[in-house]
Amino acid sequence: MKLILALCALVAIAQSIKVPLIKGKTARDKLMEKGKWDEYRKKYPYNPTIKFAQNGIEYMTNDADLSYYGVISIGTPPQSFQVIFDSGSSNLWVPSVYCSSEACQNHNKFNPQQSSTYKSNNEALSIEYGTGSMTGFLGYDTVTVGGISVQNQIFGLSQTEAPFMASMLADGILGLAYQSLSSDDATPVFDNMMSQGLVAQDVFSVYLSNGGQQGSVLLLGEIDTAYYTGNINWIPLSSETYYQITMDSVTINGQVVACSGSCQAIVDTGTSMIVGPTSDISNINAWLGATTDQYGEATVSCSNVQSLPEITFTINGYSFTIPPSSFISQSYGSCTTGFSGSGDSLWILGDVFIRNYYTIFNRANNSVGLAQLA
Ligand SMILES: *[C@@H]1O[C@H](CO)[C@@H](O)[C@H](O)[C@H]1NC(C)=O
Repeated sequence: MKLILALCALVAIAQSIKVPLIKGKTARDKLMEKGKWDEYRKKYPYNPTIKFAQNGIEYMTNDADLSYYGVISIGTPPQSFQVIFDSGSSNLWVPSVYCSSEACQNHNKFNPQQSSTYKSNNEALSIEYGTGSMTGFLGYDTVTVGGISVQNQIFGLSQTEAPFMASMLADGILGLAYQSLSSDDATPVFDNMMSQGLVAQDVFSVYLSNGGQQGSVLLLGEIDTAYYTGNINWIPLSSETYYQITMDSVTINGQVVACSGSCQAIVDTGTSMIVGPTSDISNINAWLGATTDQYGEATVSCSNVQSLPEITFTINGYSFTIPPSSFISQSYGSCTTGFSGSGDSLWILGDVFIRNYYTIFNRANNSVGLAQLA
């Protein structure tokens, strides 16, 4: 009887958590409104794979096109923050009241003195990113995500932030990748959820809506059949740091246009575009008839979008085909392709890719599942 009671209690605690994601205006849209976009991209050239430099430091995004955010709270009583749920990094950090950078003026700041559950750690934290670094220190507190509370979660409190963070909607970042990527080896939030038995299954999944602000969701501990039809195509990870997989090829009308003879790719909710090596991306953009400007932005004529080909990513023998309506984005009368080049050999399958599939990150057997949207 005692055993049954204990089991019931466990079942009652381990649940699945649904976190609504907000699809907001991007930093880029906000800067375009103010007529400051050109100035910004001159000052802060976007280097997507600086985040992925292989020197053991975890890099975070400076992607001005990111648009999906969710709300978490930290401390007792709870202090609220908007964060990017980033499958391409592993630390949680938010701005703190000890930060006087411009980016901390217009974002929510955590005040540890107003939380009765805060415990200090004071170990320094520094995360490098494309245009400077975020610095601060570590502490522990209760972190609540979608109504589930993780006790003694280690997280970063920022003291300095690079200027471009001032244009971002999110206050901070919640990394969902493996602990091996985490700065200061800080235990990631989802790892604590698994070890504290707070999630029913060791999986999380995302659905990113194409359209309006509402509908996007991060599900912690659950695969929800309502979001997909048909089979889930499971892909084993080739490395457990990022969610890294082996891609077989990228084709247009059956012809290999990139990733010839296979390549490595990561599935990254914290990058907006599809990123690949410069020569491969140039080739794809050439197939689309796009012209590339000095900032690496590839543009097509908006009247041609209907006639552009689909692009197929073959992974683990499965074909994932993305239509032009999904990889071309239109804003301020110009149509840009969702393909961005970098100096790194690693591909990044960002939101332009993820929006097309219900995407499952399976920590139980280190795989990623992709399924047709319902
Ligand atoms: C991982 O788990 C899923 C769900 O249980 C299973 O269907 C799939 O075959 C497994 N994938 C790998 C790569 O082991």
